[in-house]
Amino acid sequence: MASTPTSRIKSIRDFTIRGKRVFMRLDFNVPLSAPDAQGHRHVEDDTRIREALPTIKYAIEQGAKIIIGSHLGRPKGKRNDDYSMLPAAHHLAGLLETEVHLADDCVGEGIELRANTLVNGEILILENLRFYPEEEANDLAFTQKLARLCDIYITDAFGTAHRKHASTYRLPSIVPDRGMGFLIEKEVKYFDGILHNPAQPFYLILGGAKVSDKIKTIYSLMKRVKGVVVGGAMAYAFMKAQGQKIEAEWKQPAPEDVNAAKEILKESEKKGIPFLLPLDTNRGFDIGSMTIKKYAEFLSHAKTVFWNGPLGWFEKPDYADGTFEIAKTLAATSCIKVVGGGDTVAAINQAGLASRFDHLSTGGGAALEYLENGGLPGIDILKSGHRPESPDLVWSDDPPARPEGSFKREDKKDS
Ligand code: 3PG
Repeated sequence: MASTPTSRIKSIRDFTIRGKRVFMRLDFNVPLSAPDAQGHRHVEDDTRIREALPTIKYAIEQGAKIIIGSHLGRPKGKRNDDYSMLPAAHHLAGLLETEVHLADDCVGEGIELRANTLVNGEILILENLRFYPEEEANDLAFTQKLARLCDIYITDAFGTAHRKHASTYRLPSIVPDRGMGFLIEKEVKYFDGILHNPAQPFYLILGGAKVSDKIKTIYSLMKRVKGVVVGGAMAYAFMKAQGQKIEAEWKQPAPEDVNAAKEILKESEKKGIPFLLPLDTNRGFDIGSMTIKKYAEFLSHAKTVFWNGPLGWFEKPDYADGTFEIAKTLAATSCIKVVGGGDTVAAINQAGLASRFDHLSTGGGAALEYLENGGLPGIDILKSGHRPESPDLVWSDDPPARPEGSFKREDKKDS
């Protein structure tokens, strides 16, 4: 059997975590509501928190001291209560039906003291890691402060594994005991299946707005797929690239998207891959009924499907048919169905079909990058023997340099 990229990565199961401080990098970057009358924000879609529960519950059962680190939003390196981890911490406590402590910071002596005095099975959530610019700068001194909080580093932050940040990339490079949780294991299993051994025919469904953001992934998947189905505003870039007229009231594609679409169409022609574009639209905000029928027929023959991007403005009931009908078609087939991207996952959830899909990825950009490159920095760094790219990164497998003078005894001078 071909070895998968994760075969050299340790799982949380491979460590004795009882009584140990386990730093868990999770992706609790979840959508929040506007403040309610009391000024409290609430988690609007808890998929990412729920998906991390198996790892968290396992760590509780095993008696680990759990320190959860995450970012939320893009606070631009400044403390900002709008981006506090409070709603996520509150939500997690509700899901676990247990007490969860929220620290008022993520590094520093007070936090170290708190981490060191956790009892087995207790959970401490650190405040937003991105309140420090050093997090996104992958800064060594900041990473070393985080390292003081952990005996074992476990990541389940698939959605952030494409970022080379202090907590996702540099921290595992300086903590010798590092591994992955159950969510990353699951994500990688499905994406590796698509990349290395998809049951054929493998079809790609693309929606959303921008082609140019996804062009590299589409190119890389063209080597593997036997057909592409396009909807959403993205379709207009392809239609324009084919010389079709885009009605004035529809969303006009950006020139870079039309250029990207031309390249992709050329490639699909060269490879003889069917590329299905809408035959009609529902007032420009959804694919029309003829298109739904044609796409549904085509997709009913699929053995594997990867879907990224809704096919219309599904948040509005008038324009949800395209996305929901295609989701229903897929749900009725036995093909392997993998979905990536927050909006598409939200649409499947909204259609009540989540349990009929094999895998709803917690990664948007990360899922696309995984498919493009066959790996992600925050996962590859966990492999034993993997060398980080930056020359200034300290690698923990190397014999530690003895700090100068640390074992030196003062020579006694005979007087
Ligand atoms: C995401 O939502 O895609 C991840 O949490 C990463 O967030 P970022 O795009 O702000 O780095």
